Amino acid sequence: MKVAKRLEGIGEYYFSQKLREIDELNKQGKQIINLGIGSPDLPPHPEVIKTLQEESEKKNVHAYQSYKGSPVLRQAMSEWYKTWYGVKLDPGSEVLPLIGSKEGIMHICMTYLDKGDEVLVPNPGYPTYRSAVQLSGGKCIDYDLKEKKNYEPDFDKLKKKKLKKVKLMFVNYPQMPTGQLPSKELFGKLVVFGKEHNILIVHDNPYSFILNDNPMSLLSVEGAKECVIELNSLSKSHNMAGWRVGMLCGAKERVDEVLRFKSNMDSGMFLPVQLAAAKALSLGKEWQDEVNAVYRERREKVFELLTLLNCSFSKQQAGLFVWARIPGKFKSGYELSDDPAAFLERRGKNM
Ligand SMILES: Cc1ncc(COP(=O)(O)O)c(C=O)c1O
Repeated sequence: MKVAKRLEGIGEYYFSQKLREIDELNKQGKQIINLGIGSPDLPPHPEVIKTLQEESEKKNVHAYQSYKGSPVLRQAMSEWYKTWYGVKLDPGSEVLPLIGSKEGIMHICMTYLDKGDEVLVPNPGYPTYRSAVQLSGGKCIDYDLKEKKNYEPDFDKLKKKKLKKVKLMFVNYPQMPTGQLPSKELFGKLVVFGKEHNILIVHDNPYSFILNDNPMSLLSVEGAKECVIELNSLSKSHNMAGWRVGMLCGAKERVDEVLRFKSNMDSGMFLPVQLAAAKALSLGKEWQDEVNAVYRERREKVFELLTLLNCSFSKQQAGLFVWARIPGKFKSGYELSDDPAAFLERRGKNM
């Protein structure tokens, strides 16, 4: 069967292919430690699991749920934003629970893009921005993130581009994969840029609690709701990647617009999952400290490994990944990641 044209140029997701290769190697008895995909391997807080168990046992929780999410979860999301980011969101109209931030990216593209509409996407950046834009008929306009510019958009360069057809801009800080943290100045400039050019800035914010003492929301900038939608997620911050809970935050109008699309796609999340997620969002700083202590220790190991592989990197990075420069002799990171053992062997022989 011939697949639809919209799938032309959309390959299988890189990690979906890579995980298959890893599976094969594990079957051969090799014990592969997977440092590739940002999927937390630790469980959520025991109280979160207990809530899911207790709620699932009730008789009246198994029906379809509201398309807008449970009021308990929306309230918890709104309080979480107030506590950690200092941002006020009306739980009734400015928060929309999602089945992960990834689904929000697709929903936003389907809600706002017509064929030929343009979208600014970061390079390097999370590959889903690009595929969601393409799947929804839009056109990606790359903007480069360079080390010498702190992996921030070069606004002077951007302003020289033709921006008339640009409707959306994806941004993500702490940035994946560079680990770059946001600054107040950067967030201020993004809001000014969005307003000046009538571009909806979509800030994808799933990493703000990982190895970062100062979580920030783009919505904390004065007047941001006029041109910003923010996506957030419990996947990384609460070790709940498989539970699929995220959120979209912004002005009531934006939430209503995205809900028009989303309510045609799914029928709400299992209520006990929503109530357990609300529990997770009420956890205090001790939880974040506990998670980060493990990541800090592991990151040191990754630094050691990268040093062994002759890679260079900055130690000032946040998020689940470590961004590093490969030694010049490799054509690409793929080459090094496919065969690091051969590299170490060659290096051993040379020494
Ligand atoms: C930048 C970025 N955004 C979104 C996601 C997806 O998050 P979720 O699990 O909430 O769909 C990821 C997952 O790796 C990510 O790296």
